[in-house]
Amino acid sequence: MFSKYLTPAVLSLLLTLHLVSATPYIQRRAAVCNGHAELCDRSYGNVTFVGAHNSYAVGINNLATNQDYDITQQLQDGVRMLQMQAHNQNGVIQLCHTACGLYNGGTLEDFLGKVKTFMDANPNEVVSLLVVNSDNLPPSQYDDVFRAAGVDTLSYAPATATLTQGEWPTLGSMIDSGKRLVTFLSTTADFNSVPYLIDEFTNVWETAFDVTDPASFDCTVNRTKGDSETQLYLINHFLDQLIGGFPGLPAPFKEQANVTNSASGPGSLGEQVNTCVNDHGRNPNFLLVDFYEFGGGSVFQVAATANGVDYNPSTPIATPIDENASSSSGSSSASLDFRIARNQLYASMAAVAGVMFGLDCYGPF
Ligand SMILES: *[C@@H]1O[C@H](CO)[C@@H](O)[C@H](O)[C@H]1NC(C)=O
Ligand SMILES: *[C@@H]1O[C@H](CO)[C@@H](O)[C@H](O)[C@H]1NC(C)=O
Ligand SMILES: *[C@@H]1O[C@H](CO)[C@@H](O)[C@H](O)[C@H]1NC(C)=O
Ligand SMILES: *[C@@H]1O[C@H](CO)[C@@H](O)[C@H](O)[C@H]1NC(C)=O
Repeated sequence: MFSKYLTPAVLSLLLTLHLVSATPYIQRRAAVCNGHAELCDRSYGNVTFVGAHNSYAVGINNLATNQDYDITQQLQDGVRMLQMQAHNQNGVIQLCHTACGLYNGGTLEDFLGKVKTFMDANPNEVVSLLVVNSDNLPPSQYDDVFRAAGVDTLSYAPATATLTQGEWPTLGSMIDSGKRLVTFLSTTADFNSVPYLIDEFTNVWETAFDVTDPASFDCTVNRTKGDSETQLYLINHFLDQLIGGFPGLPAPFKEQANVTNSASGPGSLGEQVNTCVNDHGRNPNFLLVDFYEFGGGSVFQVAATANGVDYNPSTPIATPIDENASSSSGSSSASLDFRIARNQLYASMAAVAGVMFGLDCYGPF
C-alpha cells in the first residue's frame, strides 16, 4: 500500500515541501523578549517595566539629581523606561532639571545616541521613553533629533493615536518588526505629523508625584486625559523630603531609598503595586523610581513578580553610592558641612525655580 513508501526520507521531504509552501519566506521569531520567553506573547500593555525618574539627572552630592548611574548602566541593569524633562536651550533640546542653569544633563541627541547603542547591542529588548515636554516644543523638532540620533527607525508608531491596554502589540511582534522604542510625549503630540511620538495622557494615567509621606503612596488616578479603565498606567514611586525651611521644596529623600524601593513593607514599591492590584485589578505598567539600584535589585524583583517571571540577573547590578563615603572625610563634621552645602544649594535652586517656573511644574524634583 501507499504507506509502505512513506519512508522517513520521503516523510521528511514531504514535510519540507509543506513548510516551504506554507511559509514562502522565513520570519524571524524572537524566542526571548526583555529577558524572558514568557513575555514574547504578552501584550506591551500587559507588562510591568521599571522606569528611572529623571534618568538623565545623574550625580552625587547634588540635590538636583535622581540617579547615581547614567542611562547606559540603568539599561544594562534592567531599567526599561527612561523618563526625562526636555527644555529648549537656544533652539537645542537639552535635558535639564527644572531649569538648565540648575542642572543640565546634556542634549537629547546625545542621550538618544546612548539609547541606540544599547538597543543595537540588545536586539530583543523593548525600551520606552517618557518625555516631559517642559517648553511645549513641537513634535517636528523632536522628530529632527530622533532622526539625527538614528532612533526614528527603531520607533514604534501605533495605528491610531490612542490604544487601549489590550490593543498594544506583543513584545515579540515589536521585536520581530524592529519597532521596539516606545516614546510618550507629555504635551503637543500630533499623531498626524509624527505618529511615533505618542500622546502620554490619552494613553497613560499617573498617580500623584512628589509624594513626601510614604503612607500616601496610593493608587488614585491623579492625571489623565483619557479613560483610566482602559489606559496603561504609571506609578510615581519616589519619595521626596521638604527641605530649606517652611514651606520647603521637595528634593529626593535618598536616605530612605532602600526602604522606598523595597519589595515589601510600609512605603515600599511592592506595597504600592499591591495597592494598585487591589484598586484596579491589574498591575501598573510603569514603576518610576529614584536611585533604582538602592534595594539591591528589589525594584526589578517587584516588576518580575508582577510579570510572573523569575528575577535572575546574569550579572550583578550596580551598588548604591554612599554620598558620605565619597566626601573628603567620613567624620561627623564633614557630614554637617555637607548638610549645610545641601541647604545652600537648595536655597539657590528654590530661588531659580520659584522665579522662573513657579513651584508647580511637573516633577520638579
Ligand atoms: C494630584 O495629586 C496632588 C498631590 O497629592 C494633589 O494636590 C492633587 O489634588 C491631585 N489631583 C487630582 C486630580 O487628584
Ligand atoms: C542601602 O542598602 C545597602 C545594602 O543593600 C547599604 O550598603 C547602604 O548603606 C544602604 N543605604 C542607606 C542609606 O540605608
Ligand atoms: C496579563 O498578564 C498576566 C500575568 O502577569 C496574565 O495572568 C494575564 O492573563 C494577562 N492578561 C491579559 C489580558 O493578557
Ligand atoms: C549619611 O550619613 C548620615 C549620618 O550618619 C546617615 O543618616 C545617612 O543615611 C547617610 N546617607 C547615605 C546616603 O548613606
